[in-house]
Amino acid sequence: MSIVLHAPPTPSAPGLLLRPWRDGDAEALLAAYRDPVLLSWTRNPVTTPAEARAFLRRSQQGWAAGRRFSFAVLEPTPDGQRLVAHVLLKEVTPGRPYAEIGYWTVASARGRGIAPRAVDAVSDWAFARFAAAGLTRLELLHQVDNPASCRVAEKSGYVFEEVLRARPPFPRDGHRHVRRRPWPAPGHLPAGRSQGQGHRDAEPEQPIARTSDPSLRVGRPPGPPGMCAARDPGCR
Ligand SMILES: CC(C)(COP(=O)(O)OP(=O)(O)OC[C@H]1O[C@@H](n2cnc3c(N)ncnc32)[C@H](O)[C@@H]1OP(=O)(O)O)[C@@H](O)C(=O)NCCC(=O)NCCS
Repeated sequence: MSIVLHAPPTPSAPGLLLRPWRDGDAEALLAAYRDPVLLSWTRNPVTTPAEARAFLRRSQQGWAAGRRFSFAVLEPTPDGQRLVAHVLLKEVTPGRPYAEIGYWTVASARGRGIAPRAVDAVSDWAFARFAAAGLTRLELLHQVDNPASCRVAEKSGYVFEEVLRARPPFPRDGHRHVRRRPWPAPGHLPAGRSQGQGHRDAEPEQPIARTSDPSLRVGRPPGPPGMCAARDPGCR
């Protein structure tokens, strides 16, 4: 599938291009994983050409199966483009209201707001693409000792929902953040409403299944939603 997404430029940063991973990305992928921070947060390291090929093959299989959509995020350079990040939309199942998003940014590109802009672009695309399949919410999970990831969630519109208990393979508690499908769904305007009206309204709440065992939930700490950074020592 030849999907290409764009994150618009900002006053201080060029636009981003997001597209499915290609075989020719193996070298850039290996370079990105030559980073102890990224390696410390992944369960599937890419440290050899064989692992890079497996990553790219899995990415292609995910697109072909329509369940797992991984994007290479590219930034323009004077010579062309360079890989700056990865965003993954996973667990997309027709009829299921939720899916999950994950991401990383190349070490040399961190701290420039790339992950939030790329996550925002993929989230918008996911809600538009899978509205008819019943997708109404996207979930973003991170460990409490990853404040940078917590900030990505907040900056890309994922509201803190609850603390999740540590469980294998995650040694620490985590946070679940949620972004709800805009209402009306992109491209599905109710009669009498013009484009742009209500685009960012949250869809009316409806019962949902959870990705995690309910017994693992610690519950919502006191305080308003969306402010985990301010009240959770794990999130700055
Ligand atoms: C988490 C991560 C994706 C953030 O990506 P990013 O493109 O740097 O995102 P941002 O620029 O918005 O920065 C987010 C936060 O990272 C921290 N940060 C800022 N500069 C940084 C730098 N140079 N290096 C590392 N972290 C930095 C800040 O806390 C920042 O929040 P702030 O904007 O409120 O100050 C990136 O740090 C990363 O790839 N980490 C390793 C993999 C990972 O943790 N993935 C998520 C697993 S849930």
